[in-house]
Amino acid sequence: MKDTPINYEVVKRKIQEGNYPSIGNVSIRELLKLVNQIEQETGEKFVRMEMGIPGLPTPEFAVNAEIESLKKGVSNTYVDIEGLPELKKEMQRFCKLFLNIDVDKNSCIPTVGATLGSFASFFTLSKLDESKDTFLFIDPGFPLQKQMIKSLGIKIDHFDIYNYRGNKLRDKLESHLKKGNVFSLLYCNPNNPSWICLTEEELKVIAELAVKYNVVVIEDSAYFGMDFRKDYSIPGKPPYQPTIANYMDNYILLISGSKIFSYAGQRISMMIISDKLFNSKFENLKKYYNSDIFGRVMIFGTLYNITAGTAHSPQYGLTALLKAVNDGTYNYRSDIMEYAGKAKIMKKLFTDNGFKIVYDKDIDKPIADGFYFTFSYPGLTGEKLLEELLYYGISAISLSITGSERLEGLRACVSLVQREQFKDLEYRLKKFNEHHSLNS
Ligand SMILES: Cc1ncc(COP(=O)(O)O)c(C=O)c1O
Repeated sequence: MKDTPINYEVVKRKIQEGNYPSIGNVSIRELLKLVNQIEQETGEKFVRMEMGIPGLPTPEFAVNAEIESLKKGVSNTYVDIEGLPELKKEMQRFCKLFLNIDVDKNSCIPTVGATLGSFASFFTLSKLDESKDTFLFIDPGFPLQKQMIKSLGIKIDHFDIYNYRGNKLRDKLESHLKKGNVFSLLYCNPNNPSWICLTEEELKVIAELAVKYNVVVIEDSAYFGMDFRKDYSIPGKPPYQPTIANYMDNYILLISGSKIFSYAGQRISMMIISDKLFNSKFENLKKYYNSDIFGRVMIFGTLYNITAGTAHSPQYGLTALLKAVNDGTYNYRSDIMEYAGKAKIMKKLFTDNGFKIVYDKDIDKPIADGFYFTFSYPGLTGEKLLEELLYYGISAISLSITGSERLEGLRACVSLVQREQFKDLEYRLKKFNEHHSLNS
């Protein structure tokens, strides 16, 4: 089958040259490189859905706040690892106004993206109790976090939550926690890649069991406020973004600035440690750090070790953004709603051309439109589908690297696809369906 929208020989050669053990299991960044190479050689533009990059401009006032700080000369000094006092204050306000929770300013710490926040959390939490050696992922999830746990030599346990939603969650989660070896668990809500959104009842169950088995919960809110079926964006007014923090006091919240504020390049995120965890003492920490207090160890131990703080200017930018949303002078939601509009159209283009949505239900409702969706094509494994789509100028990542059980599926990110590309996408999907339905 050589009559493909992208030159068949070039795609085939580039895949061969990459010498990948398996194209379906390559990391997101490797795929990015491969697609760049194919685009360069063929001169054809792909419909790029592999990487979760925000496709919107950063609000200008945040860029200006960064520039101002640099002009004032912040760049010649080291940063305070705890974070800028005005940023910490705005983070605390954000927690109150958008999550309806109370946290101490000390417990609000900027990190170099939620990527660093995740790594620092995994590292520090793994040192709390030698008798617990396992990290639990409520999957599917962000592949990089699994790579981190693996590279830290920590054992991984996981399950795909899709078949255990609602009242099925308790037994499933308890079957993993009752072994007693899990020190911490993580979920991402809304979920990357499936876009399922946990309910208050499910968060309550996770909290109850985490308390019962003394497990620290990491709530990854990389897509804060992006369950667009609800409007969580009005400061101090319900509905508030659902959070575990309402149900337990032993948690770390990771609230990335990358997607909500289209700020990925400046690498800044909020790490919110519950006051209880922040002030808790763990005897075992003394083996690795010169303190046994969790919050102190996190800041002056782990974060100092890894980055010695978050760069000045993004802290000023994030302060400006948070102040604006907290004061109600900027509504983040109205900017990023664009993702939902694109997802709705793109999902239809896929399903009109023989594809299926993999994670298609949020308990009993159709999955919401957001930053990601998942899809498959009858008769093809995810790995094969990913490879085949490259010949049609469409790139996505395989669900197999996300801890998903749905190995037939791929994840599509809508952010980088421009509306002007929808015609191309439609043509390519039609061609794909034409070629593949003839073969099946
Ligand atoms: C679930 C999840 N967590 C964390 C991150 C990393 O966020 P950051 O850009 O703040 O490092 C991402 C980025 O895509 C993500 O999808």
